[in-house]
Amino acid sequence: MAKNKTVYACAACGAISSKWAGQCGDCGAWNTLSEQVEVAAASRGGRFGGYTGSASPVTRLTAVAPGQVERWPTGAGELDRVLGGGLVPGSVVLLGGDPGIGKSTLLTQTLCLLAQTRPALYVTGEESLEQVSLRAQRLGLGDSPLALLAETQVERIIATAEKEKPQVMVVDSVQTLYTEQLQSAPGGVSQVRESAAQLTRFAKQTGTALFLVGHVTKDGALAGPRVLEHMVDAVLYFEGESDGRYRLVRAVKNRFGAVNELGVFAMTESGLKEVKNPSAIFLSRTSDPVPGSLVTATWEGTRPLLVEVQALVDETKAGNPRRVAVGLDGNRIAMLLAVLHRHGGVITYDQDVFLNVVGGVRVLETGADLPQLLAVLSSLRNRPLDTGLISFGEVGLAGELRPVPNGQDRLKEAAKHGFKRAIVPAANAPRTPIANMQVQAVKSLAEALAVAFD
Ligand code: TYD
Ligand code: MG
Repeated sequence: MAKNKTVYACAACGAISSKWAGQCGDCGAWNTLSEQVEVAAASRGGRFGGYTGSASPVTRLTAVAPGQVERWPTGAGELDRVLGGGLVPGSVVLLGGDPGIGKSTLLTQTLCLLAQTRPALYVTGEESLEQVSLRAQRLGLGDSPLALLAETQVERIIATAEKEKPQVMVVDSVQTLYTEQLQSAPGGVSQVRESAAQLTRFAKQTGTALFLVGHVTKDGALAGPRVLEHMVDAVLYFEGESDGRYRLVRAVKNRFGAVNELGVFAMTESGLKEVKNPSAIFLSRTSDPVPGSLVTATWEGTRPLLVEVQALVDETKAGNPRRVAVGLDGNRIAMLLAVLHRHGGVITYDQDVFLNVVGGVRVLETGADLPQLLAVLSSLRNRPLDTGLISFGEVGLAGELRPVPNGQDRLKEAAKHGFKRAIVPAANAPRTPIANMQVQAVKSLAEALAVAFD
């Protein structure tokens, strides 16, 4: 086989050069050249751009039967949920997360279960076969007929998969892979991209469901391969702290299901166990009212989730007041505090404001605006809010309250967990009354503050 030629392409302007250099000779950008496989140029000479090709037949939209997407249940309800109802044949799922958070655990568990009904292959590039087997033992799944392969060269992985014909395959992790077509070291952008592209092509052609594991860098992006995100069908991320008990898996992209869907697991001695009623675990267990705490109902993909928002407001000791948010949008705090000042008459420029969502959940939707401000004021005035109270709603710059989607379902979830009172935007007032719940629908932030601290 003739060896493919490698060239260096500039990521900024696309110029190709045969040698690597620190600066692109064409556009002058620095550090943008990365190694690529040169695609053999076909015979040139056509009328448009020099390419000739035979025409492909087109199909009318109306002639295409949508068909039912087949789904394979993975055996873990929460994983099925984030996948959009099960694993789709031929789909490629990228699972990202910090080291040690449980990526290998989740996929070992899933594959051991799947292997009982269909051929499955677990390719490990990071661990030895003994380590994988040890983990399976620990998970109580040591007798599963799962096929294992310790390999990092993509061509050999694909050749093995062609022979073994698995229906489900895991490659753990993409950062260890390399293709013989490139000379750069494994883990680099070009190696990761090229390896993942080959595996993706294999999965699509054979209908194999493929999981790719990817490590996450400190800034939250998949190391190097953000490029992978558009290549795959679904991107799942592990959220939350790896020292906590709960692990959250969020779908940030999904071609076969709701985006932002959240699956909740608990890490136990014998692997990840799904949490069926996540609202219950993120609520604090103490029923004593404390200042600065309020429960909000957020919307995660296709279901509501109750989480506790905490605020601590403390006098600023030196210079600039601090605004720190954990699990909330940090850039929004300053804006919300300005609205609180102008439309609620509450001064916080001499106060440090700390906000936190309990349990490591990230709530990035605007529905958390109102509860944040209520918690801030509760802490500032040292006045606890009613423990039976929940709240949600977006706060606009004019001090108005804007509705959030699925208000009715959020209220129902709160009522189910024993909450008796809710402060929500007027437009989220329920059309039919909710049993055992008093809903106070208000138009503005000022009104909300008045009813919360009457
Ligand atoms: P692992 O799944 O290897 O993480 P990753 O592949 O994302 O790097 O390991 C996750 C952590 O979970 C590890 O520190 C050990 C722990 N663990 C348990 O607590 N219980 C278990 O049953 C297993 C298998 C691991
Ligand atoms: Mg691992």
